[in-house]
Amino acid sequence: MHYAIHHIDKVISTNDLAFEVCAEKEPEEGTVYVAYEQTAGKGYHDNIWVSEKGKNLTMSLVLCPGFINPSEQFVITQLISLATADTLKTLIPEHLIRIKWPNDLYINEAKVGGILVQNSIMGDRIEYTVVGIGLNVNQREFPESLPNPVSVGGYTNKDYELDDVLKSLLHYINVRYTGVSKYPDRKQLQDEYLKNLYRYQELAAFKDKDGIYNGRITDVDAYGRLEITAQNGAKKYYNFKEVEFVLTN
Ligand code: BTN
Repeated sequence: MHYAIHHIDKVISTNDLAFEVCAEKEPEEGTVYVAYEQTAGKGYHDNIWVSEKGKNLTMSLVLCPGFINPSEQFVITQLISLATADTLKTLIPEHLIRIKWPNDLYINEAKVGGILVQNSIMGDRIEYTVVGIGLNVNQREFPESLPNPVSVGGYTNKDYELDDVLKSLLHYINVRYTGVSKYPDRKQLQDEYLKNLYRYQELAAFKDKDGIYNGRITDVDAYGRLEITAQNGAKKYYNFKEVEFVLTN
């Protein structure tokens, strides 16, 4: 994929900007918008994304994944989460990096990044996708309202060039995206996603509308639903916001 990188000083949200541009003219795969500052960054599911200006990576990438069926669109979240994890693993000991379902990146028990994948679907195909990535790199202090934030630098006590992190991220996205475009078999991607998944197969506490219970994450299905097998053997399936991880710290 050929990337065209646009650095922007101040924008409401790089995802919104990417959507506006795609709506105006033919979407160009590989277009990247990187913001120094977002005034109203968007998080997953109507959340907001807060990021101190100039400290972190806040970017959006346009993809045209015509080879991915809308029904399997979770594949995009999977490959982007894995590529983000690949990048983090070059900076932080590998075993500490986890993907927290569905789209968070964790160092240990703390959130270091998030992904917001938004698709424009036309009939039975994905016309284009805007992949938004927020990665906490150099920020040291976070608002109290965030439950468990961390940055790469906060963890390692170093500072990083944001351009280097961006370059690495785009490299791994290219590798993973090209892989998915060439091999229709999604098993390897699924296996890798599960292998990197936070609390996969670990006995842990979860909270749903019926209360807190112990169980293990045993799968994520093609629609991106989380499968938890409760200690009594019952399998439960969840969409986002239907289940909470009970955090241990
Ligand atoms: C989440 O964890 O809720 C997803 C956060 C995604 C944030 C990024 S920052 C760049 C891009 N532009 C946005 O407005 N949001 C995404």
